[in-house]
Amino acid sequence: MDNKFLSKKGALSELLKALRDVSAADRPKVGARANEAKTKLEAALVAKRDGFENEALASRLEKERVDFTLPARRAPVGSLHPVTKITAEIVAIFRRLGFELAEGPEIETEFNNFDALNMREDHPARDMQDTFYVQSEKGGRLLRTHTSPVQIRSMLAKKKPPVRILCPGAVFRSDYDMTHSPMFHQVEGLYVDRDVSFAELRGALLFFAREMFGAQTQIRLRPSYFPFVEPGAEVDVTCVLCKGKGCRVCKDTGWLEILGGGMVHPKVFEAVGYGTGENPEPVTGFAFGMGVERIAMLKYGVPDLRLLFENDVRFLKQFGV
Ligand code: PHE
Repeated sequence: MDNKFLSKKGALSELLKALRDVSAADRPKVGARANEAKTKLEAALVAKRDGFENEALASRLEKERVDFTLPARRAPVGSLHPVTKITAEIVAIFRRLGFELAEGPEIETEFNNFDALNMREDHPARDMQDTFYVQSEKGGRLLRTHTSPVQIRSMLAKKKPPVRILCPGAVFRSDYDMTHSPMFHQVEGLYVDRDVSFAELRGALLFFAREMFGAQTQIRLRPSYFPFVEPGAEVDVTCVLCKGKGCRVCKDTGWLEILGGGMVHPKVFEAVGYGTGENPEPVTGFAFGMGVERIAMLKYGVPDLRLLFENDVRFLKQFGV
């Protein structure tokens, strides 16, 4: 932008040029005035420019104002799946009774999943309709239908009692409806030593039931059949909703079935070589297995198994961290 007063062709230059025409006597005085005017103008210009700059800065600071008192944006926090939570709770309870964590693969041999557990070739669970078989060069592989093969693995690995293990894990059955999913979770327990009794099984399960469902909980053992235990039992707890009075959830019985268990069958010990050969000492033991989803449904009052598999965050969020 052209400067009307201070540029080369501005009013001030013209004035200074005109000094030539002023008489020698007057020149110093006029010159001094002209310089004075120049200084003033320049000062005024600087002052104005500074003023504009300050204004611009002030308005920018105003516009870009940052409120340091605003709360920080929170990182989204996930929550544990109810099945994960219940599994951890079950494990924690049995750890206090001295059970150690054990693991086994989801793809199993027929031997570990069935034969060694006294489930012979003609057992209905071995039917293709119930079991997912997988192609394998080694032959006879399947997706484990329960966590019980980990009993076999643990005893074979330990070679010698005592064995006191707990195994949580996914299991698979060709089943799908309101209360069955083709994949679900179980926790297996096994305790083998000299003179392990049925009373100890009951004691361990009562302790578990009370830790899981509350101190007033009672348990009931009903005779039942599993090929790998003898005697075998299904175990009920007093209904979590009506506390035993009878309601819709327990179908007016006051009881809810939560697991199966029993004393390890001699055929199972035979299959892993306990009580013979290198380990001639007689052993006894108990085993139990429970469905994690079922316990989660009972504990949290989840009406439909499928809610546990749909992964709708609105549902999952309710279970907290
Ligand atoms: N494996 C059995 C099932 O899946 C449960 C069970 C385990 C029963 C151990 C007795 C002893 O139904």
